[in-house]
Amino acid sequence: MAKPIIIDTDPGQDDAVAILLALASPEELEVLAITAVAGNVPLDLTVTNSLALVELANRTEVPVYRGSIRPMVKELITAEYVHGPTGLDGADLPPPTIEEAEGHAVDKIIDIVKASSEKVTVCTLGPLTNVALALVKDPSIKENIGQVVSMGGGFFEGGNTTPTAEFNIYVDPHAAHVVFSSGIPIVLMPLDVTHKALTTKDRLQRFADLGTPAGTATAGMLDFYDRWDIEKYGLPGGPLHDPTVIAYLLQPDLFVGKHVPLEVEIAPGPTLGMTVIDWWGVTDDEPNAIVMNDIDSDGFFDLLVERIGRL
Ligand code: BDR
Ligand code: CA
Repeated sequence: MAKPIIIDTDPGQDDAVAILLALASPEELEVLAITAVAGNVPLDLTVTNSLALVELANRTEVPVYRGSIRPMVKELITAEYVHGPTGLDGADLPPPTIEEAEGHAVDKIIDIVKASSEKVTVCTLGPLTNVALALVKDPSIKENIGQVVSMGGGFFEGGNTTPTAEFNIYVDPHAAHVVFSSGIPIVLMPLDVTHKALTTKDRLQRFADLGTPAGTATAGMLDFYDRWDIEKYGLPGGPLHDPTVIAYLLQPDLFVGKHVPLEVEIAPGPTLGMTVIDWWGVTDDEPNAIVMNDIDSDGFFDLLVERIGRL
């Protein structure tokens, strides 16, 4: 039976590829909803982009809900310098013809989790604002969330937005704190994993060679998205972050990690938004997260090409 999931997201080219991967995998994953949050670009755009993606995947029955317009405490910061002004530059998608579904994402996360006969997996691909607010509004939903699988954080790799903080956590560290300290089992895909999943030219060509609208859009948007990180890190490709979350649900053996204590720094200062991970077990703290630190990157791209090829 397909695993019920909610995808909370701020597309973003790498969010887009994650969404396509999930929507291309209906035998394994039942996407109950896509909930948009402000992050890479402002909320209006993350909603529009989510709608354009369900249309691209021909899965317009999947509802897209509008979520939080800003983080819980901080002011919103966005990342057009990486993703372009639309958030999906390079994809060249037509404007969506479908409408967002009625209701606020925070309420819908609560309703959907409560109504599910099976525990729901919550996938977070952006700042954790919507999920944290749902947990604040109705903490009883914890009982029916099987796990939260998140792209965020970094430990040996450090940060990509400040020296110590990764973007999704830095945008809303207070939300990340609420979610990670909730008692729900967490699986974390930090930069330590995603910086080993590089969109090299050969890998991008495989998407282009699919010759389908989804393959062409994937190749185009990842080519655009790459340029910033290739220049910044001097790597042969850009790190492909968010699809690791969905790939983990489809093929967990692609990843290696450890069950460890994880917390988020919420005190102001140079370590705000840092994910503090007791990798070596130097505390007696209870492990609350499986934190990944390695990936079979060839297997990951094989999975992506095969699934996006189905759309
Ligand atoms: C994360 O931040 C965003 O720019 C990406 O979409 C990804 O979720 C990587 O730090
Ligand atoms: Ca994202």
